[in-house]
Amino acid sequence: MPRPMLWLLIAAPTVVLVLVFSVLLSRGGERQERRAEVRTSGEALVGGPFELIDQTGATVTQETYAGKAMLIYFGYTYCPDVCPFSLQVMAAAMDQLEADERARIQPILITVDAERDTYQQMASYVSSPAFPDGLVGLTGTEEQIAAVARAYRVVYQRAEDDGSGDYLMDHSSIIYLMDGDGAFVDVFTSGVDPRDLALRLQDFLEENPG
Ligand code: NI
Repeated sequence: MPRPMLWLLIAAPTVVLVLVFSVLLSRGGERQERRAEVRTSGEALVGGPFELIDQTGATVTQETYAGKAMLIYFGYTYCPDVCPFSLQVMAAAMDQLEADERARIQPILITVDAERDTYQQMASYVSSPAFPDGLVGLTGTEEQIAAVARAYRVVYQRAEDDGSGDYLMDHSSIIYLMDGDGAFVDVFTSGVDPRDLALRLQDFLEENPG
């Protein structure tokens, strides 16, 4: 057998093995990177500073609530069903906490309907006894609302007018738990069992003694 042929016979399997390994290794690396990206988007990319108007007409930022965990829901006061339901779920969960636990959580409604939800409208809405005690209602300009919604990955859109001048807003229905520094902790669907939500809140408060 001529020498070059011999070398080819020895080298070929080695080359194939190296190729197979390098493909496997690079795939594993990609998978790990992807996982890391997902994790990052959950923890770091939801939430952030905001500037809005509370139900007294005062300008507030996330610093206003610093030191307290925020339980945030995005909705609007003219919502016929999902928003009031979600706020009642939050109320039912908060009711299961001890008073000192409740004091460490600020429930917040941020409107996605800047046009109709003036701060006066928010004031009368958030005072409903069906909603969490101390519920804060935040509104703002279209731009301020758009900015905070973008930060929280909330989507909303004005639905078709029915001709009467009334309109519905399509919107994400998610409850966010943010820590005392405004950093993302957890999310819940508005269909969450209030007991489960209460337990998660208590776990969080225990892990993060004030
Ligand atoms: Ni709604």
